[in-house]
Amino acid sequence: MKKFYIATDHAGYALKAYVKEYVQELGHEIIDLGPESADRVDYPDYAKKCTEAILSDKGSFGILICGTGIGISIAANKVSGIRAALCHDGYTAKLTRQHNDANILCFGERVVGKGVIEEMIEVFANTEFEGGRHAGRIAKIENCAFGADFNH
Ligand code: RB5
Repeated sequence: MKKFYIATDHAGYALKAYVKEYVQELGHEIIDLGPESADRVDYPDYAKKCTEAILSDKGSFGILICGTGIGISIAANKVSGIRAALCHDGYTAKLTRQHNDANILCFGERVVGKGVIEEMIEVFANTEFEGGRHAGRIAKIENCAFGADFNH
C-alpha cells in the first residue's frame, strides 16, 4: 500500500473525487489537500501544499491536477527533492517511476480521459525506481537545485 496526497486547482477539481476513489479502490491511502470547491484558485498554492506534505512524510507520493498539468508540475518542481512528472499515458507514468523516481504524478484534466488516468495511476503506484545508473542522474538533479536539504 502506498500513501498519496492529492491537490488540484479549479481546472482539475472536477476530477479529484473520482481520482481519490480510484486510488482507494486500488488499495492505497489518499489524503486530500484541497481545494474544497471549484472556485478559482492559483495552482502554485496547491502545488506547495502537496510538496510540503510529501517532504514531511517520507515515502509518500502526490497527485497534482490542473487544466493542462503543466503549471502545477512546473510549480512543484521548484522544490528541492520533488520530481513531479507531467504524464500523458501509462508509458510515461511507468518510465518516470523507473528512471526518474518521480514522487508526484501530474496530469491535465483538459488533456486526458478517465481510462488513461486510471492506467497512469495504477502503473505509477505499482512501479518501482530502478536505481543503478538512474540514481546518479537523480543526484545530479538535486545538485542543480537550490533550496531546502532533502533526504527523501
Ligand atoms: C487555469 O485556467 C489553467 O491555467 C491551469 O489550470 C493550468 O492549466 C496551468 O498550467
